[in-house]
Amino acid sequence: MIDLVCSKIECWYPTFLCNRCASMHQYRLSPPIAPSPQLPSLRRSLNPLRFDSASLLPSKPPNVVMSPSDKLSIVPLFENEIPVCAELLSRSFGHDAPFVDIYFPNHDTPSGQASVSSRLTAWQRSSLEDSVFLKAVIRSSKDNKDGIIAGFCIWTLMKEPPPAELAKVEKVDEVWPDKDDREFMTRLWSKYVIPRSEVIKRSAGKGVYVLELLAVDPDHQRLGAGTALVAWGTRYADELGIESVVEGTPVGRRCYENGGFHTEIEEMDFDTGEEFSGRRKPTLHFLTRQPNT
Ligand SMILES: CC(C)(COP(=O)(O)OP(=O)(O)OC[C@H]1O[C@@H](n2cnc3c(N)ncnc32)[C@H](O)[C@@H]1OP(=O)(O)O)[C@@H](O)C(=O)NCCC(=O)NCCS
Repeated sequence: MIDLVCSKIECWYPTFLCNRCASMHQYRLSPPIAPSPQLPSLRRSLNPLRFDSASLLPSKPPNVVMSPSDKLSIVPLFENEIPVCAELLSRSFGHDAPFVDIYFPNHDTPSGQASVSSRLTAWQRSSLEDSVFLKAVIRSSKDNKDGIIAGFCIWTLMKEPPPAELAKVEKVDEVWPDKDDREFMTRLWSKYVIPRSEVIKRSAGKGVYVLELLAVDPDHQRLGAGTALVAWGTRYADELGIESVVEGTPVGRRCYENGGFHTEIEEMDFDTGEEFSGRRKPTLHFLTRQPNT
């Protein structure tokens, strides 16, 4: 891979990708982001995808109408934007997703929000080489120069299965101070990672592109942001020639299917034992996608 940056003033994507994607690249739109220390590292892995809203307008009416001159861009998410995304995440999932409710405890409260922000920040800082944090920005040519963050996602290149022990990846005592919550989440996690771990193992070292988080603000859903965030990652997976996976909510399923994912497990197993039989269990599909090479 050539690690050169496009010479166009507003563009910092690797040249070889930029040339290939020139038809989609709207140079006149500069990302509304200040230069960041993360940029050099992100440059190595980012693949530009920007979309004309007209080609992505969905069939159902959205809450906010985009005008044909509005632009939807997929660009890197920076650390100072994480609190906005924590709020967006909470508004997006609400309390419809049991996994999110327990994984991000009290996410709709100020302390829960602070915890989501600090965990996402730590995650981003610790995985600059493997994880890409992206945002979908809608820019109106008329009234909002900087654009609105409509959604965000996290894609991670995984070459090794994630630890099945939650305590190896999270500060469990801090995040789940209640013993039963902690035990429940620990058991959910050990089940959650099984399917993706199997796909990673079968990749025989090539790795798998994992969509770890995807959320679009309810006010900006059905405008194509989710599809565009998914498409960014699948396109990059195609570049690498690797499989992609996602543990998807029922509401996200269309988005993934549109992106070429197929359901491998209709309902993931979250049997956490008799003592937790009264707790809400996640309903998640496990979807995979072969690369288009
Ligand atoms: C799933 C989600 C990311 C989709 O984002 P979006 O920007 O609205 O998606 P798009 O506009 O690109 O639409 C993609 C497809 O999903 C469908 N869709 C979007 N929202 C939907 C909803 N609430 N219920 C059912 N289908 C929905 C769209 O109709 C479209 O399908 P179509 O092209 O066949 O019409 C968004 O609804 C969301 O954040 N939901 C809550 C959080 C969540 O479940 N995230 C997924 C975690 S795995």
